[in-house]
Amino acid sequence: MASSFTNTIILGVTILVSFATTKSAADDSEAKAVLESGWWSNSHPYGNDTSQRCKWPGISCNPAGSITKIDLSDTFDVEVRDRFGKLNFSSFPNLVHLDLNHHWIGGNIPPQIGELSALKQLRLSNCDLSGELPPSLGNLTHLEVLEITGNVNINGSIPPQLGKLEKLVTLGVSQCGIVGPIPSALGQLTNLQYLSLSDNRINGSIPPEIGLLSNLVYLFLANNMLVGSIPNTLYNLTNLEMLGLGSNKLEGNLPPDIENLKNLSVLSITSNSFAGHIPLVLCHLTKLKYMYLGGNQFSGSIPSCIGSLSNLTELDLHSNLLQGSIPQEIGNLEALRSLDLSQNRLSGSIPSQIAKLRRLSNLNLTFNRLSGNVPILSSTRLRIVDITNGCYKIYPEPFEGNKDLSPCIASSNTTTSTPNNTNIALYIKIFLPIAICYTFSILCCLLFSRFKAKKNHVAIQPTKNGDICSIWNYDGKIAYEDIIAATEDFDFRYCIGVGGYGSVYRAQLPCGKVVALKKLHRLEAENPAFDNSFRNEIKFLTEIRHRNIVKLHGFCLHRRSMFLIYEYMEKGSLFYNLRDEVEAVEMDWTKRIEIIKGMAHALCYLHHDCIPPIVHRDISSNNVLLNSGFQAFLADFGTARMLELDSSNHTLLVGTRGYIAPELAYTMAVTEKCDVYSFGVVALETLMGKHPEDVLSWLSSPTSLVNTKLIDVLDSRLPLPTSQLVARNIVHVATLAFACLNQQPKSRPIMKEVCKEFLCGQKSLSVPLRMISLFQVAKQGMHMGESSETCHV
Ligand SMILES: *[C@@H]1O[C@H](CO)[C@@H](O)[C@H](O)[C@H]1NC(C)=O
Ligand SMILES: *[C@@H]1O[C@H](CO)[C@@H](O)[C@H](O)[C@H]1NC(C)=O
Ligand SMILES: *[C@@H]1O[C@H](CO)[C@@H](O)[C@H](O)[C@H]1NC(C)=O
Ligand SMILES: *[C@@H]1O[C@H](CO)[C@@H](O)[C@H](O)[C@H]1NC(C)=O
Ligand SMILES: *[C@@H]1O[C@H](CO)[C@@H](O)[C@H](O)[C@H]1NC(C)=O
Ligand SMILES: *[C@@H]1O[C@H](CO)[C@@H](O)[C@H](O)[C@H]1NC(C)=O
Ligand SMILES: *[C@@H]1O[C@H](CO)[C@@H](O)[C@H](O)[C@H]1NC(C)=O
Ligand SMILES: *[C@@H]1O[C@H](CO)[C@@H](O)[C@H](O)[C@H]1NC(C)=O
Ligand SMILES: *[C@@H]1O[C@H](CO)[C@@H](O)[C@H](O)[C@H]1NC(C)=O
Ligand SMILES: *[C@@H]1O[C@H](CO)[C@@H](O)[C@H](O)[C@H]1NC(C)=O
Ligand SMILES: *[C@@H]1O[C@H](CO)[C@@H](O)[C@H](O)[C@H]1NC(C)=O
Ligand SMILES: *[C@@H]1O[C@H](CO)[C@@H](O)[C@H](O)[C@H]1NC(C)=O
Repeated sequence: MASSFTNTIILGVTILVSFATTKSAADDSEAKAVLESGWWSNSHPYGNDTSQRCKWPGISCNPAGSITKIDLSDTFDVEVRDRFGKLNFSSFPNLVHLDLNHHWIGGNIPPQIGELSALKQLRLSNCDLSGELPPSLGNLTHLEVLEITGNVNINGSIPPQLGKLEKLVTLGVSQCGIVGPIPSALGQLTNLQYLSLSDNRINGSIPPEIGLLSNLVYLFLANNMLVGSIPNTLYNLTNLEMLGLGSNKLEGNLPPDIENLKNLSVLSITSNSFAGHIPLVLCHLTKLKYMYLGGNQFSGSIPSCIGSLSNLTELDLHSNLLQGSIPQEIGNLEALRSLDLSQNRLSGSIPSQIAKLRRLSNLNLTFNRLSGNVPILSSTRLRIVDITNGCYKIYPEPFEGNKDLSPCIASSNTTTSTPNNTNIALYIKIFLPIAICYTFSILCCLLFSRFKAKKNHVAIQPTKNGDICSIWNYDGKIAYEDIIAATEDFDFRYCIGVGGYGSVYRAQLPCGKVVALKKLHRLEAENPAFDNSFRNEIKFLTEIRHRNIVKLHGFCLHRRSMFLIYEYMEKGSLFYNLRDEVEAVEMDWTKRIEIIKGMAHALCYLHHDCIPPIVHRDISSNNVLLNSGFQAFLADFGTARMLELDSSNHTLLVGTRGYIAPELAYTMAVTEKCDVYSFGVVALETLMGKHPEDVLSWLSSPTSLVNTKLIDVLDSRLPLPTSQLVARNIVHVATLAFACLNQQPKSRPIMKEVCKEFLCGQKSLSVPLRMISLFQVAKQGMHMGESSETCHV
């Protein structure tokens, strides 16, 4: 009681004190300084009325009316441009927060910024600033966050005065043109948790003082010109979770001390000159998720203890001098998604245990000395294509440059002759007694009995057999024969793809209907608990009905296997059609716009009309399927969720490289906003005809966006639109795509807003299509969140 009373008094005193200091500051000088800066035009609702300054866009005040915060990151009603230095910084004694991220400024950081004596957060990322960092930044002694990332024209070196900012928690000066050394004075920043100086031209060696930053959690110095070895003191940083030193000129060994970094989850030292053996103690860093050691001179063998890193998701050892064989323990890395061992001297055969890595979606064993056969990898997420003469290959080909290795992963010969380590053979054996469901009518009766009264979903098609393929009790030998006949015993010739969670087969049922059968790779179905959740989940999925979502017709559940039966899509995936020269041309602008709209509608439905909402988690051009009329259907939703029911609620990183929202690299929280980002990528891909990786990389440097016209990135296989309406649609879709690609999840629109935008229609273009730059489109995209309010549907 007494202590809370004391607190109250202290609080009261604090308020009084701050009131006293702010009162004088809140007089005309702040208002005058705001007005004279010229940053705010008077187009906003409060015009140039300085008495209303606390309501001006981006400005927040304390109760006394003194400005505490200028945050322009979300507003475009304020244009700083070359007026940065016009602000009289000494007029804002209470300003704690200045955020100009993503505002086009150009020019230098004015040295007077050091006069903002109360400042705690300064964010100037992606502002196209140039010149040197002013040493007066060192006067901002209350600073906790300093971010100046993504200003490629900043030159000069890091001022040692930054060492005076002892309260600093975050220091981000990456993607600038910083030269010179890392000042040893930075060792004084003992509160620092996040330090990124990557993508600069920093030279010299890593100062040993870095070891004094005992609270450091993230350290990124990648893509610089650092030389020498890692100072031993760095291994004192036991809180380190991410260490990024890739693409420098660092050398030396990884010493046993690295074992101290117990919390490390990302270790990236690719493209340096590290040598020696891969230390066994690395296997004790059990939190490691990403280990990138490629492009060095590591020799010796891959330690077999690596199999104990059960959380390892990506392992990159490419371009080293590693010898010996690939340890079979690699098969224990259940979480592994990417394995790159290319360009080493690895010999022997590929361990069949690799087939156990069912999450594997990227495999590269090229340019080694491997021999023997490739084990069957059907349980992985690798795409198996190129079915010629019984030789089944993975695409892209991961085995090139091993002259003694037969690159075919299976042939009908090997399938039957060596059933041991071949999962497919195993599956076929297991499948023999399985009841197969092909009678949709009956399935539907069972599955949709709840809805029958309301809706008449599916035309009843009695089949010649008419037997019941019971869902809960797998019976139905006759049905089984039919499905065996339809797929010739799951012959590869009927396999139309190996997707995330299973191989997909095309099957024509006795009634003439063509369906896609997805055989899930999953032996966990043996687990009765899983069995139950699978049934519940399936029920849930079969209830999902939308004209832009691939219909799930039914499923089969057996003690040891599972099938999903889907509507068949004649044209295959959007990915495939964009890469096919003929189909790409047939998909004209109007069709492409409709495809994007279709996707948006499907996502709106999943996010906003389903209870509970469904996050797809793996939106990519591979998961958008097209029917014969080029209408888009979203596929594979919920599969991820369904298959991970048995694991804890902890999210596993799913998704396809190139489509994953940036925040997922740091947080594992999958939200609707991740789908929104991926939607943005696919929408741009549809307009460009190829994956928009270049454009995505430009988002952090406005210069390239300014210098590129929208028409320069549109798919050049299609003629430019002649119709004004189509041109407007293209600009509109591109604008929406950029809105969805916002790096900040909270600034992305929700799908409902995107769909609403589509319904709104668009304003006519004020300039001809060929004049519009990507920058304009991107900027307009960021406006979108605000302007959507003005559209009434
Ligand atoms: C405010 O704006 C109006 C019209 O834009 C102008 O006439 C007036 O002089 C401005 N007042 C001040 C104080 O700048
Ligand atoms: C900036 O503001 C301070 C304090 O309000 C004032 O003393 C000074 O004259 C101003 N400077 C300019 C250049 O207006
Ligand atoms: C640094 O940038 C400024 C402004 O862009 C430029 O005038 C100056 O020449 C640059 N200095 C160096 C060493 O590149
Ligand atoms: C601010 O920093 C500059 C350069 O570091 C220094 O010369 C100046 O004295 C500092 N001003 C104050 C008020 O500390
Ligand atoms: C670092 O680079 C600067 C200019 O780019 C050069 O003057 C200096 O000598 C270099 N220092 C080292 C240690 O290489
Ligand atoms: C940090 O590392 C150095 C060199 O490795 C060592 O001498 C020192 O004792 C360590 N300091 C702490 C606090 O562990
Ligand atoms: C490592 O992480 C855990 C959990 O986040 C934390 O409790 C611990 O303090 C961290 N540091 C070390 C040295 O283990
Ligand atoms: C793997 O990660 C999970 C979740 O982060 C954690 O609970 C588990 O302990 C980790 N495994 C190891 C071996 O550290
Ligand atoms: C495999 O690695 C080699 C060299 O390391 C690279 O050139 C090739 O593009 C990679 N292939 C795949 C499919 O990633
Ligand atoms: C399959 O077996 C036949 C006869 O057993 C043999 O002639 C043929 O070469 C084999 N094909 C492959 C791809 O091994
Ligand atoms: C085949 O599997 C059996 C039983 O799992 C095992 O005993 C045998 O060694 C395996 N043969 C080969 C060639 O792997
Ligand atoms: C998983 O999530 C569900 C629903 O949000 C919750 O009821 C359950 O307790 C969670 N389980 C664990 C292990 O966190």
